[in-house]
Amino acid sequence: MTASIRDVARRAQVSVGTVSNVLNTPEKVSPETRERVQSVIAQLGYVRNDAARKLRNGQSHTIGLIVLNGTNPFFTEIAQGAQNRALESGYTVLVGTSNENVKRENTLLSLFAEQQVAGILVSPTGDDLSPLCHLKDGKTPVVLVDRGAANCAFSAVACDDIYGGEVAAEHLLGTGKRKIAFVGGPITSSQISDRWQGAAKAVLKVPDATLRMIETTALTVTEGKRIGQEIAKLPVEKRPDAVFAANDLVALGMLQSLVFAKDIRIPEDIAVIGYDDISYAEFAIVPLTTMRQPAEKIGATSVELLLNAIERPRDKTRQITLKPELVVRAST
Ligand code: RIB
Repeated sequence: MTASIRDVARRAQVSVGTVSNVLNTPEKVSPETRERVQSVIAQLGYVRNDAARKLRNGQSHTIGLIVLNGTNPFFTEIAQGAQNRALESGYTVLVGTSNENVKRENTLLSLFAEQQVAGILVSPTGDDLSPLCHLKDGKTPVVLVDRGAANCAFSAVACDDIYGGEVAAEHLLGTGKRKIAFVGGPITSSQISDRWQGAAKAVLKVPDATLRMIETTALTVTEGKRIGQEIAKLPVEKRPDAVFAANDLVALGMLQSLVFAKDIRIPEDIAVIGYDDISYAEFAIVPLTTMRQPAEKIGATSVELLLNAIERPRDKTRQITLKPELVVRAST
């Protein structure tokens, strides 16, 4: 039988209200009483019941976070930043992975709503945000993560991926590359289409430069490796002289295939640039040049916006756009 807040109050010889203050507003309690109550909490193994608190004062201290892909370190870093900031305000984060599947994303949204979480952070899979609008109408605050909110209906935090794509392509062009392949997909994902759009803007400015799209089914190491093998099989004159991979996982797979192709030198024959700067990028078989996204900052900022929406629901939404940064390494 788990100890209740009344058991703690009785053992510590204080009121239930004092125990609640020690948990929620410890600064209001004298150090001597606070230490006595905290040691009784530890002795009895008392754990606060968030669901009961939600029923009593209508406020859960749990935030739901839905990321596109749980195996992509970019989203692990987002979750890390979100959790760090949430803990500062006494909240925790429950993470769900949509695996870029709309049905699974909607199931997670429903489950979080049933849990009556305080709010939801989501990196949406598709462009249909209507399920999120219903949530918002039902008074569950929602903030978009790693995605802009076109119609300002939601607060959002994302990087300017058009700018990022343009800087990535300009870097390749600046090293003398002229036949660039953009490798990534599905192109319906706004992050990917924005990066492509940015690269196209840069290539348009250089008369003898070309840009071709090699669409993948997903942004994974496996897909990058597959496309790298296809490129290595091409006759030399048909190969690109540079690859802009839509994210680092694709770039890492690409490097695996190209490095083991006997007649390809990186970057002399084919340069490779990625996107995100996940922790493995600098340790890749050829240290990877990439566009660094401030993933932890994106996570922390999205929590800031969500806490604001929770505490001041009538405030206007805010769309925050951060800039990715070019990190040059041996692969270009
Ligand atoms: O989810 C796919 C990609 O979009 C991630 O690698 C990251 O770049 C995000 O912005």
